[in-house]
Amino acid sequence: MKLLLRLVAILLALVVVLALGGLGYLFLALPRVGAAQDVRVEVTPERVARGKYLANHVAFCTVCHSQRDWTKFSAPIPPGNEGNGGMVWGRTEGLPGEFKPGNLTPAGLKDWTDGEIIRAMTEGVSRDGTPLFPLMPYIEYGSMSSEDVLAIVAYLRSLPAVSSPDEEPFTRELDFPVNLIVRTLPKPATPTRVDPSDKVRYGHYLVKIGSCEACHSQREGGTIVAASRLAGGAELLVPNGATVRSSNITPDPATGIGAWSEEQFIARFKLYENASAEALALPDPRQNTHMPWMNAAGMTREDLAAIYAYLRTVPPVVQKVQTFEGATATGVTR
Ligand code: HEC
Ligand code: HEC
Repeated sequence: MKLLLRLVAILLALVVVLALGGLGYLFLALPRVGAAQDVRVEVTPERVARGKYLANHVAFCTVCHSQRDWTKFSAPIPPGNEGNGGMVWGRTEGLPGEFKPGNLTPAGLKDWTDGEIIRAMTEGVSRDGTPLFPLMPYIEYGSMSSEDVLAIVAYLRSLPAVSSPDEEPFTRELDFPVNLIVRTLPKPATPTRVDPSDKVRYGHYLVKIGSCEACHSQREGGTIVAASRLAGGAELLVPNGATVRSSNITPDPATGIGAWSEEQFIARFKLYENASAEALALPDPRQNTHMPWMNAAGMTREDLAAIYAYLRTVPPVVQKVQTFEGATATGVTR
């Protein structure tokens, strides 16, 4: 009996030591990311132009980090609000906490060094060392080419300092156990070398930094279900309370976009370039969408063609998705 008690005591002690060791590891050794680089990004007109293109039309920074008008289709950003801080995402959207994409204009980032911005963007660690929740797509941006990263920083530095109109006090919250798990996610960036003449690979790169997969795949416990990759069906809550489901963009001809020509694919995006007020009207608020059409429409035809080429190479998945609730689609071909 005595021996048994002693064994139990030893086992308990072991469990406590392991648990403390685990916690110590989580808090002291993680996130596994070094100090911010000591860099100063040279702001050239070329970089600002490239950064503006990427941040607005490809990597969609401003889609999350700006005030948007959800009374219009695909919630355009009223001009002048680019990067001034986005809406709060939280438990209502099924997330384990409350998060706010901050102000990326100099009004928000004036005290940040270029290196700190780069580290937050590509490795997922905030200025004070806090690991970011991966709704911020730093895992994807970790493979952004070094020059594209510098271009985005140059663009953010060139923005006018604009504060967001709804400066309500906001406290970030992260629920257990995600507050521990999130510490394991940040990792050193692994920049890609890009070559736009390699169409399929460049298309893959754009799909990655465009977070297409994040919305166009279903998840289980936060992780993308491999078999549903790009096959849509993810339910996304629109701010007015409606639900939109992402489309199947795999090359299945019947339920995906396999029957679309390259020209049709490009035209689908260009439909929203300089969209008229009529095209943006929202007769049925249930038919609003998280697909960032207004921003994605600004992608170049070449980049859209590269995305199309890549999407032709992914495994086709048979999955029919009804994107909008109820009612037949109205307005522009949607
Ligand atoms: C899908 C939405 C989304 C996109 C796209 C996005 N972000 Fe974020 N970002 C967030 C959220 C949410 C946070 C806060 C996360 C947290 O508190 O853990 C954040 C945090 C940040 C931070 C840390 C400072 C802060 O505001 O909290 C920086 C810097 C940042 N993002 C830059 C960028 C840049 C640059 C891009 C484009 C290359 C980008 N983000 C794209 C959602 C997004
Ligand atoms: C924030 C979430 C989100 C992101 C990011 C996103 N999509 Fe979408 N997408 C949607 C939703 C939701 C729909 C369905 C509703 C609609 O048509 O607006 C959709 C629809 C589409 C359609 C129309 C398909 C059809 O059958 O009509 C295409 C094509 C598309 N997305 C391609 C892309 C590509 C390529 C990317 C990456 C560059 C991307 N999407 C990124 C949410 C997203």
